[in-house]
Amino acid sequence: MTAPARPPVLISEEAIARRVDELARQISADHAGVPELVLVGVLRGAFIFLADLSRRLTVPCRVDFIALSSYERGAAPTGAVRLVMDLRVDVAGKHVLVVEDIVDSGHTLAYLVETLRARHPASLRTCVLSRKPDRLEVDVTLDYVGFDLPDRWVVGYGLDLGDRWRTLPYIGMADPP
Ligand code: PRP
Repeated sequence: MTAPARPPVLISEEAIARRVDELARQISADHAGVPELVLVGVLRGAFIFLADLSRRLTVPCRVDFIALSSYERGAAPTGAVRLVMDLRVDVAGKHVLVVEDIVDSGHTLAYLVETLRARHPASLRTCVLSRKPDRLEVDVTLDYVGFDLPDRWVVGYGLDLGDRWRTLPYIGMADPP
């Protein structure tokens, strides 16, 4: 049986590593003096980016995860997001950085920011590895952005297509199913 051809490279492993380094430096500088930063990874896509970013931060960190999911088309209003698994950490009074792999329409991150803000963190910032500016539907503040992507199906470094290609070490372009 032959393995399927790997998707062509859009952003190389080396370019991702360089950008993650830059983001980590900027985030560490912006949070200098903060006693602890709670990194909130959004499952599942953010786990690889979070693993790399967190190991480059110089500010003391705690890691937690939240799982969110879009409703199936027709099951709820467009853009409705469901909380699948909540954080363990109570973020009240804490400094929080949301870590996401991608912002597409922006609904997931907008929902998450609203949810976390209601818990009264000391500060709340967002860090996304990538965004598709052409697809954005809602106004959501992105404090740190790795890459702007074209409106194409992208996979790898946490991004999937029907749960495939998530563990590719680079960001590649895939054909829609
Ligand atoms: C993806 C991605 C973001 C969200 C972005 O998650 O990881 O969380 O979609 O889309 P939006 O900006 O249009 O809301 P997905 O629901 O595919 O789950 P996954 O992380 O488990 O792949």
